[in-house]
Amino acid sequence: MGPIRICASVACADYLHLGRDLTALEAAGTDYLHIDIMDGAFVPNLALNLDIMQAVRRGCELPMDVHLMVERPETYIERVAQAGAEVIIVHAEATHHLQRLLAQIRAVGCRPGVALNPHTPLQMLDYVLEDLEIVLIMTVNPGFQGQRLIPQTLGKIAACRQMLDATGRDIGLMVDGNVSLANAPAMAHAGADWLVGGTSSIFAPGLKVNEGVQRLRAAAMAGLSQAK
Ligand code: DX5
Ligand code: ZN
Repeated sequence: MGPIRICASVACADYLHLGRDLTALEAAGTDYLHIDIMDGAFVPNLALNLDIMQAVRRGCELPMDVHLMVERPETYIERVAQAGAEVIIVHAEATHHLQRLLAQIRAVGCRPGVALNPHTPLQMLDYVLEDLEIVLIMTVNPGFQGQRLIPQTLGKIAACRQMLDATGRDIGLMVDGNVSLANAPAMAHAGADWLVGGTSSIFAPGLKVNEGVQRLRAAAMAGLSQAK
């Protein structure tokens, strides 16, 4: 299990003051900018896009991890890489050829990750563990901010951590969805080391962005220090 990484969900930022929020995220020590891209087909919603990625790239030094919630993600890999992604995370449910897709992500110089919807069993990863660097366990159904944690996903995080540790490789375990200050300790304790902060934490109403980043990291660290 690697060090805790805090990933700010840019789709939850204040779009009227995006430059201000990006500067605050950088100053607060955020590790990654989490970029949600949705096509309205894989999920019934739209979010960020390649143009916003390019604007973010111009305005902020932080690395981007891009979460593609789109059908046929292979269609977008080159352009997402050109727009500045460091990590590209695709849904196992969105492609017929996952192993080839992960090789395609590597071929464009990005780090490959696989996301699983709450209902999708971990066994979908059995034959691609050597092809990926991050597993994203969705703790809500993808597509919308402000949802509640699906409780059974905590057990899935723990089972996934066991599976990743058994490989002997340092594969990141990312969680995305209601990663709140209350849920983060249990998520980290279960084995998550990449936490996506959205409206439940970093961009929670009444919280300054830098406070949100620092409190989310502290909450995750508190979870790590709990006895196993
Ligand atoms: C689901 C969302 C996530 C996340 C946002 O795809 O877009 O990025 O849930 O954060 P919360 O859940 O805290 O609003
Ligand atoms: Zn996401």
